Amino acid sequence: TRIVVLISGNGSNLQTLLDQAANGRLGGEVVAVISNKADAYGLERARLAGVATEVLPGRDFADRENYDAALMTLVDGYRPDLVVLAGFMRILTPGFVRHYEGRMLNIHPSLLPKYQGLNTHQRAIDAGDDEHGCSVHFVTEELDGGPVILQARVPVFADDDAAAVAARVQVQEHAIYPLAVRWFCDGRLAMKGGQAWLDGE
Ligand code: GRF
Repeated sequence: TRIVVLISGNGSNLQTLLDQAANGRLGGEVVAVISNKADAYGLERARLAGVATEVLPGRDFADRENYDAALMTLVDGYRPDLVVLAGFMRILTPGFVRHYEGRMLNIHPSLLPKYQGLNTHQRAIDAGDDEHGCSVHFVTEELDGGPVILQARVPVFADDDAAAVAARVQVQEHAIYPLAVRWFCDGRLAMKGGQAWLDGE
C-alpha cells in the first residue's frame, strides 16, 4: 500500500507511521510527505526516514481551487492507495475530497461528533467535560464530519490546562492512527454507503 502523508507542522503522528513502517508493522509504505509549510518539522522527520518530501505553499496560489488542483497533481504523482492527513491545517475543496473518497483518513483531537474544528482541548475544558479524546475518520466533504473509524478516550482532570490535555490526547493519537492505517493496508477497512466498515480477522 502506497501512502502519501500531508502535514503542516510537527509531524508526531507522521513519526509513528514512519516508525511502524520501518518495523514492518504498518502494512504499507510512506512514499511521500507533503507540507504546505516549508518549516514544518515533519519534513525533517521524513528526510531522516529517507522519504520523499514536497512543499506546496498556499501563498503561491490565487485561491483554494487552484491550490487543491496543484496538490492533487502532486499527490497523484506518487500513485497513492491511501492519503493520510496528519495535522494538515488547510480546508480541502469538495472536488479534492471526492477524488480521494474512501482512501483518505484524518485524525481529529476530539471525540467526534463533539468539537469539530479548532481549539478542541480548550473547548472540552470549558464545557466541563470529564473525558476527551481523538478520532480517526474517513474524510468527506463535511469538515471533521466523515465516518468515524476508531476513537480513544482520555480523562480530563480539574486542574488540566489545554496543553496537559493535548499531551494526553496525543499519546492516544499515536496509538490509534497507525492501527487504523494498518487496517486499511490489510484491506480490512473501507468506506461503504457513507459508513466505515471493518472486517473481522
Ligand atoms: C494532532 O493533534 C491532530 O489530532 C491534529 O493535528 C495535530 C497534529 O500533530 N489533526 P502532529 O503534527 O502529528 O504532531
